Amino acid sequence: MTQLTFPGGFLWGTATASYQIEGAANEDGRGPSIWDVFSATPGKTWRGQSGAVACDHYHRVDEDVALMASLGVDTYRFSIAWPRIQPDGSGPANPAGLDFYDRLVDKLVAAGIKPMPTLYHWDLPQNLEVRGGWPERETAERFGEYAAIVGARLSDRVHTWWTLNEPWCSAFLGYGNGHHAPGRTEPAASLAAAHHLNLGHGLAVQALRAAGAGQVSIVLNPTQCRGDEEAVRIVDGVANRIFFDPLLRGEYPADVIERTRHHTDWSFVQEGDLEQINQPIDLLGVNYYSPTWLRMNPDAPENQVNPGSAGVEGWTPEGLSFTDMGWAVDATGLTDLLVRIHKDYGVATMVTENGAAYPTGPDENGEVNDVERVDYLRSHIAAVHDAIEAGADVRGYTAWSLMDNFEWAFGYDKRFGIVHVDYATQKRTPKASAKFYSQVIADNGLDR
Ligand code: FCB
Repeated sequence: MTQLTFPGGFLWGTATASYQIEGAANEDGRGPSIWDVFSATPGKTWRGQSGAVACDHYHRVDEDVALMASLGVDTYRFSIAWPRIQPDGSGPANPAGLDFYDRLVDKLVAAGIKPMPTLYHWDLPQNLEVRGGWPERETAERFGEYAAIVGARLSDRVHTWWTLNEPWCSAFLGYGNGHHAPGRTEPAASLAAAHHLNLGHGLAVQALRAAGAGQVSIVLNPTQCRGDEEAVRIVDGVANRIFFDPLLRGEYPADVIERTRHHTDWSFVQEGDLEQINQPIDLLGVNYYSPTWLRMNPDAPENQVNPGSAGVEGWTPEGLSFTDMGWAVDATGLTDLLVRIHKDYGVATMVTENGAAYPTGPDENGEVNDVERVDYLRSHIAAVHDAIEAGADVRGYTAWSLMDNFEWAFGYDKRFGIVHVDYATQKRTPKASAKFYSQVIADNGLDR
């Protein structure tokens, strides 16, 4: 066994998102989000479940902050519900909404935990979707205004801001295959959404900087593609470089524009947009769960989540194990991804989500012995260490998730928490993985 030690100052955290944990959907002036509407639409989520109650975090903030403090985390990545701040997505702030996050930030700081809020983790105010959603430029502009409001209130205490969580999902699951809210299946709109998410990020960065923000960034979920060179290049373009290149280089890749011409002429990109998007960021947030294997097949139809990907199909190699999501476990993908971002874009990174769904519940002694999750975390944290050894500037690691929660279209069926939640009683029970992770944090490293 080798002891792996992380660099001094490496940050260890956990993450959640507003709609997945807060509940209190109709309290203190919160407006409806696209996820409230989507969840209420028959057939969209597992057993029609929603985040209306979720982990009731809105009323259990003290307990949840204490839980994190007991684990010893350095950081907490949570998200701010836009519809709590601006119930219909525009205009003045709802004071009760701002107060909730103000108190949360104070409690975190008092507990010695660095607050790292995400401004948008998918709960778009429904009114903005009624007006067209992310395919419309207006949504990006409203997002910039929302960022200014929240930045003015919290910037003095926030360590790192994340503008968007996984814009790929917002654009291509939300407007591509419709697996996520708002559930639209319109390829041209999904590409326009990707651009307006990029633009919204750029406007938000500027608003946050003007409000005196500390570190500012965005969280992406790049697809770590493996397989034929041509297939990888195609999907890497439409899934990854469509975000990396405008954000970090100020341009859209020519091959992506070319491959998607049958859907759109890209006239939604207006003069000056790329300068707005290409704002300096302090580091890049990277979410990673599993890689994707690809190969060319002339008969393969276009995948709705990857417009322009006709002729490429996915496949799965043998000999791997799978999580409860059916995602293959392959920690080397995380190393490769972090090293690739370092080499191609030269930007510092932080792993902002990584984890696994397994159904393990309490045994007869009330203990949750989630050995598979411990293995998953161990191998992936070691993979981050490998990336650092290979030269990548990785500043921290964040376990998804602090606790079991509403896993979007999969409802409460999939459990990602290192803390178990009994939804009938709201009892939180740290799993074996929480104890393991807590030890990793205390040691700033682990054995492999
Ligand atoms: C990511 C999301 C997060 C959670 C995990 C499992 O795509 O950002 O909210 O659903 O996957």
